[in-house]
Amino acid sequence: MDSIKKTDNFVFQTYLRQGKAFVRGEGTSLWDEDGKEYTDFLAGIAVCSLGHCHPEITEAISRQAATLVHVSNLFYTMPQADLASKLCEKSFADRVFFANSGAEANEAAIKLARRYFQKKGDKNRFKIITMEQSFHGRTMATLTATGQDKIKDGFYPLLEGFSYVPFNDIEALKNEIDETVCAVMLEPVQGEGGVIPADPDYLKAVRKLCNDNGILLIFDEIQCGMGRCGTLFAHELYSVTPDIMTLAKALGNGLPIGAMMATANAATGFDFGSHATTFGGTPLATAAALAVVNIISQETFLDQVCQKGQYFKDKLEQLKEKHSRILAVRGEGLLLGLEIGLEKDKDAGFFVGELFKKGFIINGIQDKILRFAPPLIIEENQIDRLISALDSLL
Ligand SMILES: Cc1ncc(COP(=O)(O)O)c(C=O)c1O
Repeated sequence: MDSIKKTDNFVFQTYLRQGKAFVRGEGTSLWDEDGKEYTDFLAGIAVCSLGHCHPEITEAISRQAATLVHVSNLFYTMPQADLASKLCEKSFADRVFFANSGAEANEAAIKLARRYFQKKGDKNRFKIITMEQSFHGRTMATLTATGQDKIKDGFYPLLEGFSYVPFNDIEALKNEIDETVCAVMLEPVQGEGGVIPADPDYLKAVRKLCNDNGILLIFDEIQCGMGRCGTLFAHELYSVTPDIMTLAKALGNGLPIGAMMATANAATGFDFGSHATTFGGTPLATAAALAVVNIISQETFLDQVCQKGQYFKDKLEQLKEKHSRILAVRGEGLLLGLEIGLEKDKDAGFFVGELFKKGFIINGIQDKILRFAPPLIIEENQIDRLISALDSLL
């Protein structure tokens, strides 16, 4: 039985997959079982930002795998200590909690926000306001936090204490705030919702609203962070800092790791025993992530992301001028979305499938948006080739 048949027979059928199995990756390329090469414009959904099997990450993983893979968090290890201090040095944060995925990092953020107030005796402040069209994960708390009904289908009853407001609408947020709210949680650039950046004035106003009402601000940078938008963290584009931030995806360049980071003040919500996970911050995952952060945080690297992102966006804008079918081009850095008008049998899935046949990997969201999140090392000539393939399809 081949890998496709075996997967379809034995793995839960929760993913709609393209009918190919990949066997190897290098840089911006992936190869399928027949030896066909694909240019990756998705990077495992904003995960392999340094490309597949980046030599320095492979080296860090191999070295650590041969030295020490796991001890429990009952003990100390150097890679975990180094990664935590590096993340704090590079950000607003003073403390880091390590998890294994984005959803888990968000669970930790939600728990921290609630406990921050409950520890102070403020038991009525438990509500978290999130954004319509947001995506925060698939665990019970994070799917409750997610502002999309389709993600919640069949999982009721959900957790108590969440409410949703339209993104980029400060009046709606103001109207939702009362003395039961402990946190506002949002993605500075919504990913799964359709690649929608926050308006700069909006994000500043949200920060002020949280300050004025003593509410914690949580940024979910699981998709838009780690250099994806041209700055190490997306909120740097807005000069607004949160109290709590979550990372995952590109942090390990493919090795599963998540992080929940907080200011010293917000971090007081957790103390001994209040949160834990067996695999959080293993030496293997943190050694890989440290090597990732060391590369992505370099100014020269981030400058290149900005340049290539602008180049890509300009090319998409040119396509929009040419094809009335394209309704909008959105995004920051190398997280870009193209909104297309729906035509019979030609939704985003059509373009994803046709580009796949031509050797390009992208994905579609919300039926009408093509999302591009290539490895941050993508080259301009590869962008040109994708644009010309898209042009001929349109
Ligand atoms: C913004 C955002 N938050 C949270 C998650 C959940 O991360 P994970 O799939 O690692 O649990 C995702 C995943 O797509 C995401 O894009």
